[in-house]
Amino acid sequence: SSSSEMITLTRTGAAENVALITLNRPTALNALCRQLMQELSETLLKVEHDSTYNVIVLTGSEKAFAAGADIKEMAKLEFADVFQKDDFFANWDTLSHITKPVIAAVNGFALGGGTELALMCDIVYAGENAVFGQPEVSIGTIPGLGGTQRWPRFTNKSIAMEICLTGDRLSAQDAKEVGLVSKVFPTQQLIAEAVILADRIAKNSPLIVKTVKKSVNSAYETSLNQGLEVEKHLFQSTFATNDRREGMAAFSEKRAAKWSGN
Ligand code: CAA
Repeated sequence: SSSSEMITLTRTGAAENVALITLNRPTALNALCRQLMQELSETLLKVEHDSTYNVIVLTGSEKAFAAGADIKEMAKLEFADVFQKDDFFANWDTLSHITKPVIAAVNGFALGGGTELALMCDIVYAGENAVFGQPEVSIGTIPGLGGTQRWPRFTNKSIAMEICLTGDRLSAQDAKEVGLVSKVFPTQQLIAEAVILADRIAKNSPLIVKTVKKSVNSAYETSLNQGLEVEKHLFQSTFATNDRREGMAAFSEKRAAKWSGN
């Protein structure tokens, strides 16, 4: 395992190919300051480029996944600071460009940018004490990291509007009902369950897993017809891979597939 000041990276999983990335700024409930986001971005890119990692689990503490963007840091800024420099959120989109699967394991507060980080992950598991919400409206601003755009895609206009216009908090169960969270677990079991899920994904060819993720994501980024076209081409492209040949041969020969990743 390796660490920067506010991020811990631990190798885990049955085949030691799962990267557990933990936000670790307990004095501010993992508020997402520049330094934390810089370190998170560096850690994500390190894992993305290291072929010994297949799947990422992103978590915080039992008290807080992340209590949002750092309000004390933002309080000093003027329009010109955030508009002209436009680097305030410079590192935030790294997460949405990672091509390996990212599972969020959310315990405790995931407010504002914390909820938006979860919205950027591929699968969200929550502990039963998790609290989601977009409270930005109550501090005179709006969600700035995708909340107003991803919520309507995950749910519907009425639910997205209610969440963003009121700032009301959602429990883990509420978040499951509106479709952000796929499963809820007892707090203490959450990380273990997320790693079990990561192991199930990591059993597959990393090349094909990456292709699946790319194809599902195009459903959120394109029209249905464009997305179907992307899927068809990606499906066809799997026929150029050894792992597709191996997967189908292993099925016929009633044995486990041995992936080569090409
Ligand atoms: N920014 C900076 N510091 C924060 C913070 C944040 N978002 N959230 C918590 N902290 C700090 C607190 O200031 C406090 O520090 P001190 O001990 O130095 O005073 C410490 O973390 C512990 O917090 P609390 O004492 O408030 O803990 P609590 O258990 O009473 O309450 C909480 C927890 C409900 C999460 C509360 O801290 C809170 O409401 N935090 C802010 C949530 C929020 O509004 N987030 C949205 C931010 S805006 C945003 O994210 C914009 C965007 O889209 C990118």
